[in-house]
Amino acid sequence: MTPPSIEYLLNILKKNYPQVFLNNELDLGKLIQIFEYENQNKSGLVWNGKVAAKNQAYLPSNSKLILNEEKSLDSESSENIFIEGDNLDALKLLQKHYSERIKAIYIDPPYNTGSESFVYSDKFTNQKSSQKLNQKNPNSFEALHGNWLSMMYPRLILGRMLLRQDGIIFVSIDDHELANLKLMMDEVFGEENYIEIFSWVKSETPANLSRKSKKVTEYVLCYQKQKNKTKFKGIKKNSPSSNGLLNQSNAVNILTFPKNKVSTKITDGIIPKGDYGTDKYSVKLLEDTEVKNGYFTKEVILQAKFKWTQSKLDQEIKNGTLIQIPTIKLSPSYEKLAYDEEVPPNLINHKVGVDTNETASKELREMLGGKIFDFPKPPSLIKYLFGFSDDPEGIYLDFFAGSGATAQAVLEMNLKDQGQRKYICIQLPEEIKPNLEAFTKGFRKISEITFKRLSLLHSKLSVLNSEINAGFKYFELKD
Ligand SMILES: C[S@@+](CC[C@H](N)C(=O)[O-])C[C@H]1O[C@@H](n2cnc3c(N)ncnc32)[C@H](O)[C@@H]1O
Repeated sequence: MTPPSIEYLLNILKKNYPQVFLNNELDLGKLIQIFEYENQNKSGLVWNGKVAAKNQAYLPSNSKLILNEEKSLDSESSENIFIEGDNLDALKLLQKHYSERIKAIYIDPPYNTGSESFVYSDKFTNQKSSQKLNQKNPNSFEALHGNWLSMMYPRLILGRMLLRQDGIIFVSIDDHELANLKLMMDEVFGEENYIEIFSWVKSETPANLSRKSKKVTEYVLCYQKQKNKTKFKGIKKNSPSSNGLLNQSNAVNILTFPKNKVSTKITDGIIPKGDYGTDKYSVKLLEDTEVKNGYFTKEVILQAKFKWTQSKLDQEIKNGTLIQIPTIKLSPSYEKLAYDEEVPPNLINHKVGVDTNETASKELREMLGGKIFDFPKPPSLIKYLFGFSDDPEGIYLDFFAGSGATAQAVLEMNLKDQGQRKYICIQLPEEIKPNLEAFTKGFRKISEITFKRLSLLHSKLSVLNSEINAGFKYFELKD
């Protein structure tokens, strides 16, 4: 193997330690200081093999991506990409064209549950080799988690390099590796860029597998490449409802409601200044006002504990928000014409339009004609997450693609708003065991399942809307 060139190594340093370059010159002293600091600072996640795993990210790849014309669909016009191969090499090869170009990553890696019955391998424990090394402790941290951590670490480092500055990553996980993944992501993405551990309700009918608790949720860890001040968008409130403008915890304030803008049910006549309100909320009318035909025809100047400032009130009236002072208690309320998307709650369930594993499995069974894939994620989950900080022209990446749920999510987002989002999905050609239904239905590798779903989506969506580019370039990773 030829050693990596100096230029290649300098580029890697620049991406990871930009602070040690001044006018494009490497400050070696500064770099050594940082390495010394990192070596002393061993309080984070540590396991045998961590250094080797990190190096994996920086060694150049010996593989190539070869376009498979036969399996590609509308490949000339499409920028969607499917890569059949190991994501470690694929992520390295993507650096050349996609470095800092990916808007969002969603991954759903194997959780290291130890199960050997899934269509994909989910057992990363290494108790046998640990027994050889350390007879007494086959359940050591290394034996249970080391392989999984070494698998994830370089892939997350490479994934981060692909993200745009306003990029975002979501990682699905359950409690087998949640704690370790959090520490690893704090290290790779920076604790300061941590956003949330979302809890996703994966099941409405959880199995009774434990004597201690029924597992209803899983987690989605979220980090931004560079945490910014932009608000995340959840869902829009769709039924307009009336909200009170008074709030006990706010300070007393004066608001002037303009004439002929505020509706009411009070009968026509003059309303003299004075004290109104309820036992709970005191409201003072500072000047006489008048009601005619269901509207206040004079300004209403009120003193009370309001949620809004004068400028917010003026802006809302400009936006068409309906303001009412319905009764003689003079307690104002408002009803917005259109609500902004709310910041998403950290519980993800049907209330925000997201399905469960059960629904996703049922839909995939119908699509592929059998129980072909274990625990697929619902596209509604991925659409919802991508919607937090979306770019209708962005590139969306999933490097543990499985059955291809992320590709479906991206295409459905485009179908909804005529966007031009592109997907890149990577899936290992992992062999399928002969005892599984997927095998009896003719699938030999998991990448064949992904390919089947992408092809079906292509035919379905092209019929629904010819503007949607549901084609893809099919690449194979070859040594
Ligand atoms: C939990 S599944 C993902 C399921 C997917 N989110 C879905 O809804 O269908 C994890 C997938 O990652 C794949 N995988 C595991 N190691 C991989 C690797 N090194 N490169 C690419 N894919 C890999 C497995 O074959 C499996 O299909």
